[in-house]
Amino acid sequence: ADLRRIVVAIDGPSGSGKSSAARGVARRLGLRYLDTGAMYRAVTWWALHAGVAVDDADTLAARCGEPVIEVDTDPTAPRVTVDGIDVSRPIRSREVTNAVSLVSAVPAVRQRLIARQRELIGDGGIVVEGRDIGTVVAPQAHVKVFLTADEDVRARRRAAEGLAGMRVEVDLTRREMARRDRLDSKQMMKASDAVVLDTTDLDLDQVIDEICALANERVGAC
Ligand code: DC
Repeated sequence: ADLRRIVVAIDGPSGSGKSSAARGVARRLGLRYLDTGAMYRAVTWWALHAGVAVDDADTLAARCGEPVIEVDTDPTAPRVTVDGIDVSRPIRSREVTNAVSLVSAVPAVRQRLIARQRELIGDGGIVVEGRDIGTVVAPQAHVKVFLTADEDVRARRRAAEGLAGMRVEVDLTRREMARRDRLDSKQMMKASDAVVLDTTDLDLDQVIDEICALANERVGAC
């Protein structure tokens, strides 16, 4: 039994602290890190640049295999490229953020990315974050965590994060986040065997501690 095979699935809505927690856990345990949201964002960035309308599901389905998307699973330097272009920053833009729910709702896009995500997970040794990791992408995950937080706290965290480096208003962020949550709700499911962790009153280190403790408990099962 060892950590080199473990799969830790972290799901939850935007602003629940998923990315910071998942990266932190991966760094602390020496595991790889996969941000599946970044992959949906990368396809969205490509569509916006290739002139494919993000609300044209048929064209998206037909063409979503065109971009070559590569992700680096190093938690200290997660990187996403599209056709060799580093898009790690542009995929966080407001334009991409507000369009990604439409793109990620297209079944052909999901099929393709989920297959790729499973390849990247491989034999494990990885922390994977998203919306459907514990339910669809890696139902065999040894540790499943579902992060939640009050809507207010999530909006404030998102606004402070600053989309593309700019501080944005909490109210606007809250409205955009609520819209995205609504659109994303079909994808987002809590696995019946997931541990729910409410991060409203926890700081990042406490969240990382909790998840690492779960991983250490389950490592015998790997
Ligand atoms: O976690 P994020 O905000 O970077 O995710 C971007 C979008 O991708 C989000 O609107 C929902 C979608 N997504 C998804 O449908 N399935 C995943 N596993 C991860 C993200």
